[in-house]
Amino acid sequence: MAEELRIQAGDKREKYETLLPQVAALVANERDEIANMANVAAALWQTFGFFWTGFYRVIEGELVLAPFQGPIACTRIAYGKGVCGTAWKEGRTIIVPDVELFPGHIACNSASRSEIVVPLIKAGQVKAVLDIDSDRPDAFDETDRIFLEQIVALL
Ligand code: SME
Repeated sequence: MAEELRIQAGDKREKYETLLPQVAALVANERDEIANMANVAAALWQTFGFFWTGFYRVIEGELVLAPFQGPIACTRIAYGKGVCGTAWKEGRTIIVPDVELFPGHIACNSASRSEIVVPLIKAGQVKAVLDIDSDRPDAFDETDRIFLEQIVALL
């Protein structure tokens, strides 16, 4: 079992290491933020097949749904609400191993079991968040945080 987990973790790291330069190339020559978010969401989804992968942008004091891959989702999230609103408020990545244990988690879809939210910060301000949901509990760890923060920094 331990061996199996190590192999899975290594596999994940390898996938991110392959993905990172691909994403860098994808976004390098495009200055439109929404176009880049669309391709990043698609690239992550193609690589990992997560249940839901996408962005919310900060617009007029709310998070508003932006490019994503997966089932339809809540369109607006208030500051400090849910995992996304909390990552925005705190300006840091939040990993939720079990969404049922996160107070105020917003269930856009009941199949979601664990989640990671990475803020996109520019000039000290959160401009958007990347939200990834898995239908498995405990799907995200430090490897995801490190690589997803690098991917988001490319935007
Ligand atoms: N679960 C998120 C809401 C967004 S959806 O899952 C796509 C949250 O608690 O912020």
